[in-house]
Amino acid sequence: MKPIEMKPNVYWVGGIDWDLRYFHGYVTPRGSTYNSYLIIDDKITLVDTVKHYLADEMLERISTLVDPEKIDYMLVNHVEMDHSGSVPRVMEAAPRATIVTTSKAKRALEMHYKKDWEYMIVKTGDELKIGSRTLKFVETPMVHWPDNMVTYIPEERLLLSNDAFGQHIASTERFVDELGWDIVREEAASYYANIVFPYGAQVMKALDVVDTLPLDMIAPSHGLIWRSYLPELLKEYRKWAGNETDRKALVVYDTMWGSTRKMALALREGLETSGVPVTMKSLQTSHISEIVPHLLTAKLVLVGSPTINNGMLPTMAAFLTYIKGLRPKKRTGFAFGSYGWGGQGAREVASVLKDMGWEMPEETVNLQYVPGKEDLAGLKEIGTRLAKAI
Ligand code: FEO
Repeated sequence: MKPIEMKPNVYWVGGIDWDLRYFHGYVTPRGSTYNSYLIIDDKITLVDTVKHYLADEMLERISTLVDPEKIDYMLVNHVEMDHSGSVPRVMEAAPRATIVTTSKAKRALEMHYKKDWEYMIVKTGDELKIGSRTLKFVETPMVHWPDNMVTYIPEERLLLSNDAFGQHIASTERFVDELGWDIVREEAASYYANIVFPYGAQVMKALDVVDTLPLDMIAPSHGLIWRSYLPELLKEYRKWAGNETDRKALVVYDTMWGSTRKMALALREGLETSGVPVTMKSLQTSHISEIVPHLLTAKLVLVGSPTINNGMLPTMAAFLTYIKGLRPKKRTGFAFGSYGWGGQGAREVASVLKDMGWEMPEETVNLQYVPGKEDLAGLKEIGTRLAKAI
């Protein structure tokens, strides 16, 4: 249970969740970490905690450095329980500690834990001297809860960013350069797509503040710490927050007897032959949270469902409910599907895509029973036209 020194007397003391595979609807094949940071200065400060079941692991790490009783400040950047779940254990171990947090977070902590703790309420622009270091606070509401805040330490050029810039990865490595940009970037994109996507406007405001800070390290509350690739990371965040996409397509479908799949393959052929890279995802083999990272950067999104019981397949309804909540903008969409009678499935898909404000340059294609050669040729042609449209 070794702490990791990130800067002189600033330590990672978090918990590693090797077995985590599900995070409120988001599958996490690489597990996760909850990063707490201990700053040893005139005032001993713990920044965020870990899920409740990793409290012992965190406290053991802290105990190798200081007696937890000596903690002066429990800084809470965000109340979601993956970060505040061990605050009650810390406050038992450090009864004279004061919780430093925003007024919204104080209310949320009271509602979560029903405890009468000592609080110091801070807001954007406030500073707290803890000895040779200063904690500067910036509220970042709705990135991604109302209570979110980040903390900047100018003397260390260090930003403690909580959920922002995080990734769900369990590893013995603590720094991005130790594991490699490709893996960490992929998981950071997945994290953004599944957690932060709806809040692009708020992320842009936060990025404008971050851009003014001299920085050589960003320490999020999940995954690896960024001491390299900072410009690359901030560039990616701006792209994602601005709904800037690449000229590529995502085809998402489910199928009952293979007809909607045949339609998907014909569309893919039209796109591919027009030079548009395509990612195909069947809802039978991919979890919705594995699909949305592709949605994050695809300009064109083609969505196909057959009709069952006068509507779309329930798997497609779940996918569309999920992405509606993520509020992807500036996409071009296309709906398709097969049916036996009725044909409501593809029409329902089209209605959701239109409701999200997407461009829909082609009419929905709804084919009865099994597509024939001409039908498939027509779909290939639609793929070609959609490629031209983006
Ligand atoms: Fe990682 Fe919003 O909690």
